[in-house]
Amino acid sequence: TRTRVAIIGAGPAGLLLSHLLAEAGIDSIVIDQRTRDEIEHTIRAGILEQGTVEVLRESGASDRVLTVGSRHEGIELRFAGEGHRIDFESLVGRSVWLYPQHEVLKDLIAARIAAGQDLRFGVTATRVDGAGTDRPSIVATDAGGREFVIEAEFVVGADGSRSVARAAVTGSATGGYFREYPFAWFGILCEAPPSSDELIYSNSPDGFALISQRSATIQRMYLQCDPELDPNSMSDRQIWDDLQSRVDGHTLIEGPIFQRDVLRFRSFVAHELLRGRVALIGDAAHTVPPTGAKGMNLAVADVVLLDRALRALLLDDDSRLLEAFPETALRRIWKAQHFSWWMTSMLHSTPDASDFDRLRQLGELRSVVESEAGSRYLAEAYTGWPLAGR
Ligand code: DHB
Repeated sequence: TRTRVAIIGAGPAGLLLSHLLAEAGIDSIVIDQRTRDEIEHTIRAGILEQGTVEVLRESGASDRVLTVGSRHEGIELRFAGEGHRIDFESLVGRSVWLYPQHEVLKDLIAARIAAGQDLRFGVTATRVDGAGTDRPSIVATDAGGREFVIEAEFVVGADGSRSVARAAVTGSATGGYFREYPFAWFGILCEAPPSSDELIYSNSPDGFALISQRSATIQRMYLQCDPELDPNSMSDRQIWDDLQSRVDGHTLIEGPIFQRDVLRFRSFVAHELLRGRVALIGDAAHTVPPTGAKGMNLAVADVVLLDRALRALLLDDDSRLLEAFPETALRRIWKAQHFSWWMTSMLHSTPDASDFDRLRQLGELRSVVESEAGSRYLAEAYTGWPLAGR
């Protein structure tokens, strides 16, 4: 099989890149080891930066983000029993959209299929060859276990945190800067009306909680927990009591819990993002802890850069943007790494925190909510820095 750009991974990064390249007349193949059903139904984060929404809308990838999604003009930071609104619109004139990632994926998959592009599920990449040549390729196994090769002019690893493509770029499957955290999030979906119009990020003596939404009838909430927690070890009653005590002073509307999962926290940036004609984007290139919802937005920012670089390379034989891609992408990646780490460390309790540490953390939160400069930094980072070329 031959194509111009071969992409491993039908997540937000791989699908959006294929969509944008097709607009420029550049054909691609996207493969993913998962089924379409699995991709469209796995619950992930729900917040899109304003720039992400603009890319999805202007490229024709998703109009539903505006009709099904909902605009959020701020968030609440809660601590010491009080809520403090961070008003994004008045601070930076921007907002974010609540629109679940699996809905973005449904839109992108439908758009790829409508455009008659080559999108293959149940296909597992086993390795990437020829990074240093003009003819890189992917060795893959189809759903029937038959091995085949996809030859391309460029290969993109958009294959998530357990990337197969990473080894071809960094020289090892794990090569990167790495940090772990001594906690995780216990996430639930429940059937209930919203407990709040906006998201509530709450720091409490018992740990962090996040009150998010999905629709008028479905809500998403998270509790800081031990990474080893068995999600089925807590009763609905215990979950509601914990959530309620962690958003002390704000009453939650309870309802049946129908989904539970545990999300691990890690920060990761690959040592290299590009080798010859193979690039890494999205979670294959970097992972952020979930606080602040930067994961998918950062993937979209990578795609916007790589799309421009590949258009210049493949249409005009100009490799300058591609050569600049790692450095340009890494500037935003490290800012997002810092923001995600900062929101995480400011809002969670660590098992070994001293009284000094806890009181300093409250001082930090006050420095944010009582200072326009502090609030503006949070608003700027949360709503997203400008995207390349916009
Ligand atoms: C959601 C997840 C996040 O990590 C976050 O910061 C905000 C919202 C969510 O799933 O709704």
